[in-house]
Amino acid sequence: MKVAVLGAAGGIGQALSLLLKTQLPAGSELSLYDVAPVVPGVAVDLSHIPTDVKVTGFGKDDLASALVGSDIVLIPAGVPRKPGMDRSDLFNMNAGIVKNLVQGVADNCPDACVGIITNPVNTTVPIAAEVLKKAGCYDKRKLFGVTTLDVIRSEAFVGELRGLNPENVNVPVIGGHSGTTILPLLSQVEGVEFTEQEIKDLTHRIQNAGTEVVEAKAGGGSATLSMGQAAARFALSLLKGLQGQDTIECTYVEGPGDNAKFFAQPVRLGKNGAEEILSYGKLSAFEQKCMDEMLDGLKGDIQKGIDFAS
Ligand code: NAD
Ligand code: LMR
Repeated sequence: MKVAVLGAAGGIGQALSLLLKTQLPAGSELSLYDVAPVVPGVAVDLSHIPTDVKVTGFGKDDLASALVGSDIVLIPAGVPRKPGMDRSDLFNMNAGIVKNLVQGVADNCPDACVGIITNPVNTTVPIAAEVLKKAGCYDKRKLFGVTTLDVIRSEAFVGELRGLNPENVNVPVIGGHSGTTILPLLSQVEGVEFTEQEIKDLTHRIQNAGTEVVEAKAGGGSATLSMGQAAARFALSLLKGLQGQDTIECTYVEGPGDNAKFFAQPVRLGKNGAEEILSYGKLSAFEQKCMDEMLDGLKGDIQKGIDFAS
């Protein structure tokens, strides 16, 4: 398997590449691309870790070589938030970056699975879909918005609140990846009961966790280490699926459109990518209200991406 990371010299890119270098199956290839001149150095640095994963760095004029033969392409390239900004404020800078990189995917590895990390994810994923459609190689089973960070945060916060090992906590998170479009299904956490107030507070914390990091970093960027872990978890699950060992992750994909054209929910990952969009079950009254209130915003974010790409 060959995995390409586009934006590999950045905060997320470096953390993610480190985790992939140490956790990809033996014999894999890791291809690191960035416009920042340090990227060959990042690749050399990682190549000194003794695992059977071959790492190669590619600079700004070498996108094609970075992508050819890739099975999975992960895209964390782009600008992160600063305090006071909303994810949608990144649209002007990041929409074009994603559009160009996904065009590179269409030109060089049209069958690859693509995981978009670059914000605003609600909008950059529809942009990617339109680019792939225009190139005639869109397969909705192979395009994903990486929303795993919302899931791992939910697991961490529930574990912390109840004194549980967070590794044993499972929280589905559906919707999108911005503010109230992030909808954790706390009613479905097995073996844990919450008060109404706890549910409100936890939901609010999960929805604002990105901002919590942005403010704590005080102008130094947004989540990179937890995002590296989240993206590695997603990529390794996807890779297992592609190799025939089905896995389940919540991810933002084009589904049946019951709620919105793109929507995050549990997905069975298999040999062709998103093999099956799974039901997220019955919502509590609180969750249903949150869903009803956020859907218009999510649909607006999606339309903005479609309009941009066309
Ligand atoms: P960063 O600034 O540390 O790194 C971004 C990297 O992208 C830099 O190395 C930069 O050189 C590179 N880059 C810029 N334009 C490029 C291009 N055209 N081609 C290749 N590389 C390019 O930022 P970061 O903290 O790693 O965040 C990256 C993105 O991920 C941001 O948009 C951020 O909002 C987003 N993010 C998403 C999630 C999520 O849950 N999906 C979580 C955290 C951050
Ligand atoms: C996050 O959730 O941490 C990311 O989307 C980055 C951000 O801007 O909040």
